[in-house]
Amino acid sequence: MKLRSMRDAARAGTKVLVRVDFNVPLKDGRVLDDTRIRAALPTITELLGRGAKLILCSHLGRPKGEVLEQYRLAPVAKRLGELLAEAGGGYEVLAAPDCVGPEVKALVDGAADNQLVLLENLRFNPGETENDPDFAKALAELADVYVSDAFGTVHRAHASTEGVAHLLPAYAGRLVEKEVESLAKVTHDPARPLVILMGGAKISGKIEVLENLLPLADKVMIGGAMANTYVKTMGLETGRSLVEDDMLVTARDLVAKAAASETNLMLPIDYTVTGSIDPPGETRVVAHDAIGPEDIAVDIGPETVKHYGLEIAGAGTVFWNGPMGIFEVEAFSHGTTAMALALADAYGTAHTVVGGGESVAAVNKAGLADRIHHVSTGGGASLEFVAGRELPGITVLRED
Ligand code: 3PG
Repeated sequence: MKLRSMRDAARAGTKVLVRVDFNVPLKDGRVLDDTRIRAALPTITELLGRGAKLILCSHLGRPKGEVLEQYRLAPVAKRLGELLAEAGGGYEVLAAPDCVGPEVKALVDGAADNQLVLLENLRFNPGETENDPDFAKALAELADVYVSDAFGTVHRAHASTEGVAHLLPAYAGRLVEKEVESLAKVTHDPARPLVILMGGAKISGKIEVLENLLPLADKVMIGGAMANTYVKTMGLETGRSLVEDDMLVTARDLVAKAAASETNLMLPIDYTVTGSIDPPGETRVVAHDAIGPEDIAVDIGPETVKHYGLEIAGAGTVFWNGPMGIFEVEAFSHGTTAMALALADAYGTAHTVVGGGESVAAVNKAGLADRIHHVSTGGGASLEFVAGRELPGITVLRED
């Protein structure tokens, strides 16, 4: 997949509308996690370095077309300003009072060479999520060219991710390029063996991903509560563990599909179980067929960790989505942390990719992000990519 590169997108004085994904967690008016802001810096600094005039735009939360104070982008503008100051260059971020309209246009047109404008939350305007052509036009009128660097939002056909790309020359930013390149190494001609590690609570949100990856992968290793549903399909006891009863047929279908494509679908061979999640009770390790009627499976067990770890060590490509247990609770986090370490240890031998909010959080919590080849900034977007879905915000940037 070839995307139009921003390499030739802007010269000095060109006004560039850059769609970024600054949908970041805030607390007490401060940015709690600035990963997504940092991830957009290569595009921002490259364009600024070329003398382009930048108009950044993003959504924050889901305010549904209303102006809600807690979703204003001012704290983000402040954090971006601090990060740019660290990078040098003397740039100032101007927080616009709205995202379109004459006042905003005047601010953009009047910005000095060392100033960039961050528009107010796009989703304060109902036209954004409706992909309203008038709203897209109003955004397009602010700039000469459009650069999309909001990988986390490319699965949305919104005015700022799709509509506007038809109205201005449209290019992929550096983050979008990097995300697509890394994720495509999983789905298109991956280095073998391709090992998928899939966890999280539910099969229901991951059916398409599993269906797309099963025929491509050499091994698919399941963990997290979604494994419990598989245990139940085998007619085994799952105790008081989380099980999706309405997914039993789907789980059986996926097992059959794996067999048909000769993909090794691996399930935990042991579990860490407890009698209570909150407060966390004592834990025991039991074999997969020895879960008691009062037990709650909260993590994969040590034998599974060893087994999955060996597969990761021998892989050419690893894609990981979803934790192996309730990793937010220290006592139930060992399996998830061990998998993060296994990926980090495979840095020299495999292309490792982590996608999806919780597994990314687990990698960050373990301080291992630097030893993973690609930690995606897109939760839903990365999953839809590996599920083989068409992403509207990518389609508009394709060269081929
Ligand atoms: C995300 O956080 O996954 C992206 O910013 C997209 O947000 P959305 O799910 O509200 O569209």
